[in-house]
Amino acid sequence: MIPIRKFVVLIMSLSVFMVSCSPSGKNKTGHEYMPDMAHAIAYEANVYGSSSHNTWDKESSRSRRALSVPGKPVNGTVPRGYSGAMSNGEIDQSKIDMIRGKNQLNAQATTVNGHVGFYYADNEDERLRAIAEIKANPFPITKKGLEIGKELYTINCAICHGDAGDGAGYLVRDANPATGDPGGKYPAAPANFMLDDLINSSNGRYYFSLIYGKNVMGGYADKLSFEERWQVIHYIRSLQAASKTLIYNEKMNTLNAEFGVPLKMKNQLASVSVK
Ligand code: HEC
Repeated sequence: MIPIRKFVVLIMSLSVFMVSCSPSGKNKTGHEYMPDMAHAIAYEANVYGSSSHNTWDKESSRSRRALSVPGKPVNGTVPRGYSGAMSNGEIDQSKIDMIRGKNQLNAQATTVNGHVGFYYADNEDERLRAIAEIKANPFPITKKGLEIGKELYTINCAICHGDAGDGAGYLVRDANPATGDPGGKYPAAPANFMLDDLINSSNGRYYFSLIYGKNVMGGYADKLSFEERWQVIHYIRSLQAASKTLIYNEKMNTLNAEFGVPLKMKNQLASVSVK
């Protein structure tokens, strides 16, 4: 015979045990013994509405409030588009001003996140229009920019267009019976940037083919950012200048003033620009 007092205690603890694992409902996650990661806990962004059953929160190193507001991007994350952030994490305000067209003679105003519209369709008429209309490189010629351009060119273009830009990249190399190298098998000849036709063409020709590609060459709109495309074009211009023993760098541009403004001259221009 169980004494009545013990019986009451037993019934009470049993009922506490039963309700402690309450089922989940439409608006509550329910209680579970050690849920682990069995169920994802949904958060409403920007709302500090406590979904009161997240019992692990007290032990968490982050509060619910911190979790329900938008976080900062992970350190070192590279933004798609362009933020003006430099590799040391600081913001280069002069670059941002330049991209946004502030007090700069040769700047191209762009949206805050660096996404730039390209208002030319992918056909021959529009290609010719781009060649006629797109002239200036919106970024000044800088030492750093040429280095970036070289790196990106080597990664993305040199395999076809060659390290020297002469159109003789690895994919189209000649067969060499001495070494048994069968030569490149690429079906079409990549453009030779050292030809006068390409040297004399405006930047629009380069930019257009970077966006859409040309025939068997694919486009690079999704691989290079706005600034990166223009740095690659600066670098190609510097190769062209070198082939003609001309100068195209941050101090001087004797190739063609229309193609790019050296940083040094840009600073001189900026100091006389009207506010
Ligand atoms: C897989 C090989 C390949 C790669 C990689 C490649 N190209 Fe090309 N490119 C070609 C070929 C082939 C042509 C010639 C297309 C034609 O005229 O039919 C060409 C043509 C061009 C032209 C001339 C377009 C015109 O208007 O005549 C430019 C400019 C150009 N490429 C730039 C680049 C740049 C910049 C890169 C790197 C970001 C690059 N290409 C990467 C194969 C390539």
